[in-house]
Amino acid sequence: MAEAPRPWRGVIEEYRQWLPVTPETPVVTLGEGGTPLVPSAWLSEVTGCSVWVKVEGSNPTGSFKDRGMTVAVSRAAQAGVKVVVCASTGNTSASAAAYAVRAGLSPVVLVPEGRIAAGKLAQAIVYGARLVQVQGNFDDCLKVARGLCERYPVVLVNSANEDGFRLAGQKTAAFEVVDSLGDAPDIHILPVGNAGNITAYWLGYQEYAAAGRSRRLPRMWGFQAEGAAPIVRGAQVSQPETVATAIRVGNPARWQDAVAALEESGGRIDAVPDDAILAAQAGLAARDGIFVEPASAVGVAGLLRAREAGLVDPGQTIVITVTGHGLKDVETALSAAGEVEKVVVPPDAEATARALGLD
Ligand code: F0G
Repeated sequence: MAEAPRPWRGVIEEYRQWLPVTPETPVVTLGEGGTPLVPSAWLSEVTGCSVWVKVEGSNPTGSFKDRGMTVAVSRAAQAGVKVVVCASTGNTSASAAAYAVRAGLSPVVLVPEGRIAAGKLAQAIVYGARLVQVQGNFDDCLKVARGLCERYPVVLVNSANEDGFRLAGQKTAAFEVVDSLGDAPDIHILPVGNAGNITAYWLGYQEYAAAGRSRRLPRMWGFQAEGAAPIVRGAQVSQPETVATAIRVGNPARWQDAVAALEESGGRIDAVPDDAILAAQAGLAARDGIFVEPASAVGVAGLLRAREAGLVDPGQTIVITVTGHGLKDVETALSAAGEVEKVVVPPDAEATARALGLD
């Protein structure tokens, strides 16, 4: 008899043995993970490789942050914490807010004043977070968050936290890639901001390989936005600036871990300019039907530039993680689209056909 279908249970239940949870941990989940791994006909043709896109915008709050947040908030609930706090460029705050309220905890989110996309701001507000706008950038927000946690009864749910709960959850995306493809890819490409995610993927790939679930390890390729590229430059950026506000980070908390992932995997990190990021965002939407936020297009832009520079040998399997949903930041997408032809018609098929030039 066929097995009864079973719904995806979220990353803690799907990957429990790999995660820092115990039978006593109350599982706080919104069914995160299990996201689509979609072949890109466009990027495969351009590169001569087999290119797959891991669509993390399909998570419950629209970004990869939910994978780590289910673990961090479950553990916070287990510890009897009442208030969780995070610094964020918008996605972490949306995710922290949703998971915290689901667990009956109070979320406090610290975001750079006036510099987060409207969709993300709306999420924090509607989920019911205490929203604090800090006069500074993400790096300042993280300093404030750490200061609060040192002196007050609140717990940090940033991936910078030494408990590693967020990274543990985020590494499940690497497990899913191997589970889908049957092995690790040759190259895995990610955008890099605070540098937690690239660290988490490398952890996941290593753990799976050590357990014999995969035969090889990928080379990790990271890309930063040119105006916020401290790891590429090897120096902190005091005034990070990029259209990709999610990765507007000048002093990544996981800097050393990311460098280790790049070195150990034989990978590389490079920077891409804003115009290439917006072109990649538009291309991924128009060619592959995948609408991502600007920061999430950074890996695509990076792959295209690497190919132009002759750095991509054909015949490889490449996975690119696109980290957040395009609907998070429609303002940037619409202004990049420029003047759009406005077709206004009376409610009449013939008039519509005429306006469309179908007649
Ligand atoms: N892509 C998106 C959409 C992000 O929101 C982030 C980080 C990244 C990529 C980079 O990931 O920081 O692990 O290197 N956003 C954080 C936030 C900073 O606050 O939401 P990372």
